[in-house]
Amino acid sequence: MEQQRLDKILASTGKWSRKEARDLIRAGRVLANGVPVRDPSARLDPEGVELCADGVPVAVRRVTWVMLNKPAGYLSATEDRRAPTVLDLLPPELRNLFPVGRLDKDTVGLLLLTNDGALAHALLSPRRHVEKVYEARVTGRLTGEDVTAFREGVTLGDGLRCLPAGLEILSAGDAESLCRVTVREGKFHQVRRMLARRGKTVLTLERVKMGNLPLDPSLKRGSFRFLTEEEVENLRIFL
Ligand code: URA
Repeated sequence: MEQQRLDKILASTGKWSRKEARDLIRAGRVLANGVPVRDPSARLDPEGVELCADGVPVAVRRVTWVMLNKPAGYLSATEDRRAPTVLDLLPPELRNLFPVGRLDKDTVGLLLLTNDGALAHALLSPRRHVEKVYEARVTGRLTGEDVTAFREGVTLGDGLRCLPAGLEILSAGDAESLCRVTVREGKFHQVRRMLARRGKTVLTLERVKMGNLPLDPSLKRGSFRFLTEEEVENLRIFL
């Protein structure tokens, strides 16, 4: 693996901020392969190095996985001059991560970011059919006919045929309805376009689950947290 700065390696564990890591290192409290290293910019191989802080071994994250509760108004891109990107919501030491797929600028909710290319690729692969669950508030009344149409596979405006999808009506009114949509693919604007084919305009859209990973309900909009080792392990079934 590419060598990285020691302060960055420590910060990527999520235990310390970059500044805390620098202070810890400068105080001589960090050993790399048994030897104190006092230079936060010292470059080491995170795969190979044994780190100890205050005598306690540091579990270096080989890969980093972050769950972000994406707010509206952010692009799921690593760089864009037109609007802030989801990376702007992460601290500088995590800006090497990339989003696992895209949510529209105005879609909110679960977005994973990682540096684990292989697993990210598997989660997005059209062949893996990883489920993505969304909650949508739409104009108009959703009916059983809409549910049937989703189950049979909606054909989009451009003739593209979607795989059978789940539509669960959570509440239905003449003006607005609320539903849960489950898709197993990731076509561009898919949920909005499927609902548009049923004559519904999406007012709000939130992703609440990806594969076996639900959005953490305690995670505030705009906040992120590291995935637990168990959550990453559970995602690995898609590899
Ligand atoms: N489907 C959409 O239409 N938009 C998203 O952001 C995600 C799924």
